[in-house]
Amino acid sequence: MSATLSARPAETPPPKRGPLLDSANPAMQRVLMLGRGVAATPATVLLTGESGTGKEVLARWIHQLSPRARFPFVAVNCGAMPATLVESELFGHERGAFSGATERRVGRFEAAHRGTLLLDEISEMPLALQTRLLRVLQEREIQRVGGTAPIAIDVRVVATTNRDLRRMVADGSFREDLYYRLNVFPIHLPPLRERMEDLPALVEAILARLAPRFGHDACRVSRDALSALAAASWPGNVRELANVLERGVVLAPGGCIGTEHLVIDAPMESVGARREGTRPAASETLEDLERQTILQVLDGCGGNRTHAAEQLGISIRTLRNRLRAYRERGVEVPEPASGVPLARAGGPAISRMTTGGSDATHRG
Ligand SMILES: Nc1ncnc2c1ncn2[C@@H]1O[C@H](COP(=O)(O)OP(=O)(O)OP(=O)(O)O)[C@@H](O)[C@H]1O
Ligand SMILES: [Mg+2]
Repeated sequence: MSATLSARPAETPPPKRGPLLDSANPAMQRVLMLGRGVAATPATVLLTGESGTGKEVLARWIHQLSPRARFPFVAVNCGAMPATLVESELFGHERGAFSGATERRVGRFEAAHRGTLLLDEISEMPLALQTRLLRVLQEREIQRVGGTAPIAIDVRVVATTNRDLRRMVADGSFREDLYYRLNVFPIHLPPLRERMEDLPALVEAILARLAPRFGHDACRVSRDALSALAAASWPGNVRELANVLERGVVLAPGGCIGTEHLVIDAPMESVGARREGTRPAASETLEDLERQTILQVLDGCGGNRTHAAEQLGISIRTLRNRLRAYRERGVEVPEPASGVPLARAGGPAISRMTTGGSDATHRG
């Protein structure tokens, strides 16, 4: 197997304590119900959901529940495949097919015969290969590179993506016909933040898996630590939770995780928002934004109410009402100053600027 291709064949031993495949959340219960239903059939499955929601975990579970369970489960990461090697990785090659092909080689499709082939991150598959894949899915046979005879394959395909394939179809980066071939049985995994009722059981399942690796009989989280975990937003979903717990186990003596052992990353979204300086953090309300804008404009107008109201497109009465409300809440409001930069006011505003002083008397 090429080092560049991330393929994990079925010989990977199953973990001693499996992942949590039970849920108290209605959306997740439906996911599991759909998974159980499709397992018995040979239908192609398309698993969607944010990164870290458990798409591969679900794919393996479907395989284990299916009549294919005693045959291989082969996972291929489509994003990690260099275009030049892709064809032979997936479909194999005959000896002498190209320079360097000294041996016949069985591809991933053949390796998964009678089992399940996981095409992970299908959105990253190059367009040329999408065409090849479409043909294989339609004809249910492959041809090794340099081979002449088609080889029939019996493989259930499970494709996963964390991207919006329909949008990719619309912008031409994903083949529409392949999309419909894959979208036979779609299952969407909810993000962790929408299934927080599962958090305690997930923590337990993940800790049960971690304990033997760190030489503990069992690992635990304190009540406060569990509350802290419940308060986090988990943009990285179950993977992020597993990482935080693993760090916790590393830091906690005896595997008893307290709040002091939790290192939870700041949400990526707000990091991005801070960098861009435009997008509001999720906690900012419309009212916060309005106040910031009003005070910023007023400051830029040297405190001149008339001019600020004009720039903001609101009446001076509205502006004064807002400023009064801000003062009452203890917010510092710029005082009207006389030395307003006239250049910024523009021609007609100069006469209004002279009335700016009246602001002082009717100050909001
Ligand atoms: N139900 C679960 N119980 C225990 N662990 C889980 C569960 N779901 C996911 N995990 C853990 O979370 C991590 C991410 O899961 P997985 O690789 O299946 O996510 P994914 O949706 O395929 O992510 P990506 O889109 O980034 O490939 C893994 O370590 C996995 O073991
Ligand atoms: Mg995955």
